[in-house]
Amino acid sequence: MSYPYQIQSIDQYHEAYQKSVEDPEAFWGAIAAHFQWRKKWSKVLDWNFKEPKIEWFKDARLNITENCIDRHLEKMGEQPAIIWEPNNPDERVRTVTYNRLHKRVCQVAQMLVNNGVKKGDRVCIYMGMVPELAYAVLGCARIGAIHSVIFGGFSAKSIADRLADANAEYIITCDGAFRGGKDIPLKSVIDDALVGNTTVKKVIVYTRTRTPVSMIKGRDVWWEDEMLHAEDILEKNGSINFPATAMDAEDPLFILYTSGSTGKPKGVVHTCGGYMVWTTYTFVNVFQYTPGDIYFCTADIGWITGHSYIVYGPLAAGATSMMFEGIPTWPDAGRFWDITEKHKVNILYTAPTAIRSLMGFGLDPIRGKDLSSLKVLGTVGEPINEEAWHWYNENIGQKKCPIVDTWWQTETGGCLITNLAGITPAKASWATLPLPGVQPVLVDEEGNEAKPAPTADGAVITSGNLCMKAPWPGILRTTWGDHDRCRQTYFSTYKDLYFTGDGALRDENGNYRITGRVDDVLNVSGHRIGTAEVENAINMHAGVIESAVVGYPHDIKGQGIYAYIIAEGVKPEDEERQRQNILQTVTRIIGPIAKPDKIQFVNGLPKTRSGKIMRRILRKIAEGQTDNLGDTSTLLDPAVVETIAKGKV
Ligand code: WT7
Repeated sequence: MSYPYQIQSIDQYHEAYQKSVEDPEAFWGAIAAHFQWRKKWSKVLDWNFKEPKIEWFKDARLNITENCIDRHLEKMGEQPAIIWEPNNPDERVRTVTYNRLHKRVCQVAQMLVNNGVKKGDRVCIYMGMVPELAYAVLGCARIGAIHSVIFGGFSAKSIADRLADANAEYIITCDGAFRGGKDIPLKSVIDDALVGNTTVKKVIVYTRTRTPVSMIKGRDVWWEDEMLHAEDILEKNGSINFPATAMDAEDPLFILYTSGSTGKPKGVVHTCGGYMVWTTYTFVNVFQYTPGDIYFCTADIGWITGHSYIVYGPLAAGATSMMFEGIPTWPDAGRFWDITEKHKVNILYTAPTAIRSLMGFGLDPIRGKDLSSLKVLGTVGEPINEEAWHWYNENIGQKKCPIVDTWWQTETGGCLITNLAGITPAKASWATLPLPGVQPVLVDEEGNEAKPAPTADGAVITSGNLCMKAPWPGILRTTWGDHDRCRQTYFSTYKDLYFTGDGALRDENGNYRITGRVDDVLNVSGHRIGTAEVENAINMHAGVIESAVVGYPHDIKGQGIYAYIIAEGVKPEDEERQRQNILQTVTRIIGPIAKPDKIQFVNGLPKTRSGKIMRRILRKIAEGQTDNLGDTSTLLDPAVVETIAKGKV
């Protein structure tokens, strides 16, 4: 069995691609017809990148949860929608059928309404990877509330900033979250975020770890109590169904904050109709999902990968989506392979950083594990190096599974450049071809189309900054509360183009290889962190005068964070303590994910006469290069470079 819009051969891929470019409206209109709409669109696409204004399926009405749940109930009600593997392998697995998912999501919808949540309200979700997180997300979508999930590794201050930016009045959280040997006190972080806050009306707390929590009268309520109450109300009404709210195709579905080259994270906004079509279409085609397959994406729902490829895409396709609470290395480094064997996983989607970290444990954790159920492997989040690609291919895929290297971004909603499993060829460390509807272009600094050039080994390669010429249904629509910021960040660098922030190469066959960010954004373990954001956090530390943060190659994380810091009166014997103190401040201000891997105290930073920090030089030093640092003649004080290079940590 396949989906009506499933590409099944390379010819079909080329044909679909061609059509999508020649007549996008006809192409996407035909695909959208396979979804459930309350009202049909008046126009498939209306757009310009100048404002930007992007409208897909104008005037159509729908609710994404009817597509993710209700429409599957008749034929697949008893099929598993979510299989949940707990952190502790001895704890009971939970299998959530589509019927059960429907019931729970309806209860959450009712619970939210009971607590005053209305269509368009922002609900912040800060939970561990429990099925209730998926129910919470879908429950919001059912009533048209806009969810904003915040990853559990962000600090109270980060949460407070996001709450304020989104003006969120409701929070759903857990007492705590289990992650490997740790138990993370989520509610207590929320409490810190809410000190002095007067706008949050309700905090709903799901019990997971049974860690003691403070509950504030009138504000904090227990999920369990509220869900029972909601169930009573639904039953009294004679049905467990909570009717889904009809949304405009262009109504916001969610906000997800992401870092950029400025100090302040942006709330990327995705809308209901286009995002649904894009995540489902890409899920089915990239992974070549066949109904009945067990699909396992190891991401956290706190990131876009989890939104698009644990929750919305797979469920809209009626798939079985595995959800894993724990981490790849606990209780040991064989956990992914145990899960694969236990649940007979067919499709595994993970990150290069996870692969590299598992490679470090050798082959012992894989030995004796039955991985024969695997058909397709995937990676996402950063360029995958060839060594990791081959290890994944040989030891996990046993050379029988195509690997899809999926390039995309929070802003793109779903995959843009990737091979299709078993349909279009893979090329180690190349994301390969654009999906139908995706029109990449490589430009030089001036915005002119980059020209192909022969390389030393005889190939002809085009190199440039990666942009998109036209919108696809899953493109971001705005940044929350500040449309002009969206325009400036993505649509103003190059006229009439969406700029990704990545550099890329293209070979003669049209394959793309992503080379990494060309802006001041780091990619640490597949997570995006702006250098300006880390610098701001460091600069808040007492005694710090100035800092400069750059990335450097890191064996497991892909990129590590290297911070050069000028601080007042740090004596050599106090350096280590001062480092630890600064790490504490970064953890407080952003979260543990932004902690620098290396801190070097310096007396000065290399600056141009106009006061700009020469990051190029700092990057080279962090990479281990201490001579041939390029032209330093424009520096205010060239001697500073030598001192820094000598003091490299
Ligand atoms: C940035 C987006 C997409 C979900 C996870 C990250 C890098 C992502 C790849 C890939 C090379 C990749 C890019 C991109 N990236 N996937 N397959 N090959 N680079 O989402 O946090 O929005 O980060 O991740 O640099 O711009 P994100």
